[in-house]
Amino acid sequence: MAKNGPRPQPGILDISPYVPGESNVPGGVKPIKLSSNETPLGASPRAVAAFKAEADQLDRYPDGAATALRGAIGKLYGLDPARIVCGSGSDELINLIAHAYIGPGDEAVYSEHGFLMYKIATLACGGKPVSVPERKYTADVDAILSRVGPRTKVVFLANPNNPTGTYLAHGEVRRLQQGLPPGTLLVLDAAYAEYVRRNDYEAGLELVATTENTVMTRTFSKIYGLAALRLGWAYCPADVADVLNRTRGPFNVTSPALAAGVAALEDRAHIEHALAHNEKWLPWVAAEIGKLGLEVTPSVGNFVLIHFASPQAAVAADEALKARGIILRRVAAYGLPNCLRMTIGTEDDNHKVVAALASFLGRS
Ligand SMILES: Cc1ncc(COP(=O)(O)O)c(C=O)c1O
Repeated sequence: MAKNGPRPQPGILDISPYVPGESNVPGGVKPIKLSSNETPLGASPRAVAAFKAEADQLDRYPDGAATALRGAIGKLYGLDPARIVCGSGSDELINLIAHAYIGPGDEAVYSEHGFLMYKIATLACGGKPVSVPERKYTADVDAILSRVGPRTKVVFLANPNNPTGTYLAHGEVRRLQQGLPPGTLLVLDAAYAEYVRRNDYEAGLELVATTENTVMTRTFSKIYGLAALRLGWAYCPADVADVLNRTRGPFNVTSPALAAGVAALEDRAHIEHALAHNEKWLPWVAAEIGKLGLEVTPSVGNFVLIHFASPQAAVAADEALKARGIILRRVAAYGLPNCLRMTIGTEDDNHKVVAALASFLGRS
């Protein structure tokens, strides 16, 4: 940086930029990309058609209030659309929340292997990221509460968490909320909520409806297959919605994204299909990789965390898979250097990963 040049705010240069999942493998072959928890089934054809239909109106600004999409979300979940805020991916909502509630010297708490954006967003505001140890790769409510102090402005909880795939039952999340001071905001990041099939899971609707300091964020990037469009939403207490609406860009979500989002929500058959696919292949992948002698953390999302004997073994496995055109995700940046994360793919993808791992381990 130039000696007398412009200086960013404190904290900014402490950020290690987010490294997205890789998309390419050597040799120019089309890779099997299982590095970003994208759906293997693509977007709903109805969403694609709605996206294309917007091409004739690219000269017009979008509806900055996202009226139709908030209405559609409200109808689906029985929510007040006035308390829904849409964003350019849930990443934008996480950043908006951080910028509105975390200032220099304030703290934001999250769990040890929590989603990386929490640390980045906190540092970007001059805040202090506080990472709390987990138990069995799962957020630990007591440990989180023990680190919450007068400077804690936000607690971020990905539920289920990426990259571990573990979750907290509703009773635990409620206990966390009840242990927080009223001035600390609990952000429940439910990016993978649609995949969860557990009776004791609740994405956050109930807590947002009944408390003043809980926000739930959701995304269209995962089960809805619209990652390229950058579309997410938050369900908030009225005061928080008001704050986010003051600080977001007036046209923060594009018209094609809004239109595709509405159509994607309406295509329930597509979502049911994606869910059924995951319900079939998540346990299969976990079991088959387990049979190879590798530990797999039990997951309720659309991905699994695979444990290797050492960081070197994880890197070697990653390289061996890449040589076969398969891209998983290294997760050393999450404090998991021994692990790789694999998104559940198509039937064919899943078989190829298991075969490649077997070959890497000398089992084939
Ligand atoms: C836990 C979690 N939260 C948020 C996001 C960001 O999603 P979006 O594409 O909506 O920005 C991701 C994406 O990987 C995620 O895993």
